[in-house]
Amino acid sequence: MVETAGAPYTDPEVVARNTREHVLVSWSVQSKTNPVYITDAEGVWLYDSSGRRILDFSSQLLNLQVGHKHPKLVQAIQEQAGKMAYIGPNFANDVRAELARRLAEVAPGDLTRVLFTTGGAEANENALKAVRLATGRRKVIGRYRAYHGATFGAMSLGGDNRRWANEPGMDGVVRVFDPYCYRCSFGREPQSCSLECVSHIEEVISYEGADNIAAMFIEGLTGTNGIFVNPPGYLKKLRALCDKYGILLVADEVMSGFGRTGKWWAVDHENVVPDVITFAKGVNSGYVPLGGIILSQKLSDYFKDHMFWGGLTYSGHPLACAAGVANMQVYDDEGLIDNSARMGDLLLREMRKVQEKHPSVGDVRGQGLFVGVELVKNKQTREPITPWNSPSSGIAADLGKALMAKGIFVYCRWNMMFLAPPLIVKEEEILHGVRLMDEALAVADAAI
Ligand SMILES: Cc1ncc(COP(=O)(O)O)c(C=O)c1O
Repeated sequence: MVETAGAPYTDPEVVARNTREHVLVSWSVQSKTNPVYITDAEGVWLYDSSGRRILDFSSQLLNLQVGHKHPKLVQAIQEQAGKMAYIGPNFANDVRAELARRLAEVAPGDLTRVLFTTGGAEANENALKAVRLATGRRKVIGRYRAYHGATFGAMSLGGDNRRWANEPGMDGVVRVFDPYCYRCSFGREPQSCSLECVSHIEEVISYEGADNIAAMFIEGLTGTNGIFVNPPGYLKKLRALCDKYGILLVADEVMSGFGRTGKWWAVDHENVVPDVITFAKGVNSGYVPLGGIILSQKLSDYFKDHMFWGGLTYSGHPLACAAGVANMQVYDDEGLIDNSARMGDLLLREMRKVQEKHPSVGDVRGQGLFVGVELVKNKQTREPITPWNSPSSGIAADLGKALMAKGIFVYCRWNMMFLAPPLIVKEEEILHGVRLMDEALAVADAAI
């Protein structure tokens, strides 16, 4: 395409045109997308091409834990680029080694060996390989309301409807129900719950043959399908079930890790130690693509004498790892885990007040700065305001637009809002965000 002579490439119209004509936007019908052009960002704030300030209340894709343009991460990346931008994974490298050591330090139990990837999907692909290789078993258990990434295996492993376009997908995946307490598959309420969402898995295991099952994959705390806070005892009971049958437990903490729930990992809320943690996003707040898996001692020992059949050109990329080391330091220096817990409590409390004012707000739930709002037509019947799997043009799009018009970005999907500001967020920013959401929810009230 020929550019208009003299037009700078930053010109909003040129950017919009180039985007429209040349960029394939993820998970979108291309003719229906019109992405907002963000020209600057700092802390919890985004600035669009007209200079308008927008509060980033979803940390982009729930990955920008330390917020935008954190000087320590910027400096670490600049310094590393000046020193050595890239070195292959089969050479030793200081920032790679240091980040792996720091991850082993914060990982639960004896999880101490890290394979780095470039994102969450690849992390889960490699976890799949590791558990199949180490156990010699083929099947894996996943959950219907899970998302593990968009590559072939990870997509199959999740139950999220985005897998449909990928099907029949990978062989050997068995799916079970989720701890979705607001809409319990077993008809229970919290007071009558006896964790049937775990018990039924034992029945599934008996039909599939425990000796065929390598691992069970869970999201540490389910994210994209609706922020399902694990009911008390769920993780412990699941760990015990896996142990009973020699099935490995893999916790996908890609979204729920790195303090999102107010602890380093969602599994820490019950002191449960999985056999593998998969991570990405928050590990370096998304400044350079990075993910990975952390293996237990037992799995790590297995690969001492056995080949690990996997690798990536960019495994442990120095720029990404340098950002990761700086990121971990910021967590310590700025007390981000603690801030997530405290600000999360405030956000949950304030949103529960908002819930009382709006007929469309059926449920508000969360842990740390990982809060979900579920919209309904009727609070008594809990009928969703738009059906599960409704197209992106429904209430999520209308509400998303109304929120942006008020100056706040909130990731909305189906009948859900995902409130997950950067972990550096301050009290006044939480209260400002809550006020804007309170106003914008008029759009949802009008739609019921
Ligand atoms: C729980 C979970 N796992 C895996 C992924 C995939 O990560 P990525 O998009 O980095 O491949 C995501 C992405 O949102 C996620 O939420």
